[in-house]
Amino acid sequence: MKSKDKIKESVEYILQNKIKKCDLGIIIGTGLGGLVNYVNIIVEIPYSSIPYFPISKMEMQNSRIIFGKINSREILIFDGRFHKYEDFNYFQITYPIYIMSQLGVNKLVVTNAAGGIDLKLKKGQLMIIKDHINLQCGSPLAEKENFGMGERFVDMREPYSKDLIEKIVNISIQTKIEIGLGVYACVVGPQLETSSEYKYLRIIGADAVGMSTVPEIIVANQLGIECLAISVITDLCDPDNLEPINIKEIIEMGKKGEKQLIKILIELLKTI
Ligand code: HPA
Repeated sequence: MKSKDKIKESVEYILQNKIKKCDLGIIIGTGLGGLVNYVNIIVEIPYSSIPYFPISKMEMQNSRIIFGKINSREILIFDGRFHKYEDFNYFQITYPIYIMSQLGVNKLVVTNAAGGIDLKLKKGQLMIIKDHINLQCGSPLAEKENFGMGERFVDMREPYSKDLIEKIVNISIQTKIEIGLGVYACVVGPQLETSSEYKYLRIIGADAVGMSTVPEIIVANQLGIECLAISVITDLCDPDNLEPINIKEIIEMGKKGEKQLIKILIELLKTI
């Protein structure tokens, strides 16, 4: 079956289930679902009920589309995402983007948890992604499922919207929430990096590292969607003082950052 036909069937199902077309979409990163508590939910659909929609088996991962309002702003939230390390292909990882595009989304906000390579970042702090480095050694545009979906040689001069970044920077000044601005490197994972890899990441210009976001941003750019991505820094990656991985602390730092993330996203929604 052709990708376009799968997407068409998924979208038809979603629209039949009372989700309305909407210009703003959000993909929520793993463990960062608290924003949903601030949404006046109009309709919620589990991914598992939508034809052809991928489903993650990861813990801490919700799997649903929410259509609702924050204050008076309508939004489509994709609560639950797909990673390369779960053995999804790029068509599956980026499936929510194709669906959003068909549902009228032209502005996308993506959140994720990431390790801090720039040691000026603090645990629990937010970082706006101004650019990225794809270290997954693969592209969603290089899979046959993507052929015919749009431009092949997609321009990546400005993958993240300058306008949306400026808005977040202004909000961070007004709300006095300290927020970094940097380059996100995307690896496959799921293992964390060696100290030599952290040194390498620093040398090539990365400020943070994580295992998601970049495939979705590539397809969003192909489809002409304006993008904003924000990382919550959950751990610091100092190659000379590597600490044992502490999942409890990573989750705690995610929660700390999430509070600020929710605050600035609610402010952003008032302006877009
Ligand atoms: N490396 C890769 N991904 C991550 C990290 C990290 O240190 N922290 C959170 N996500």
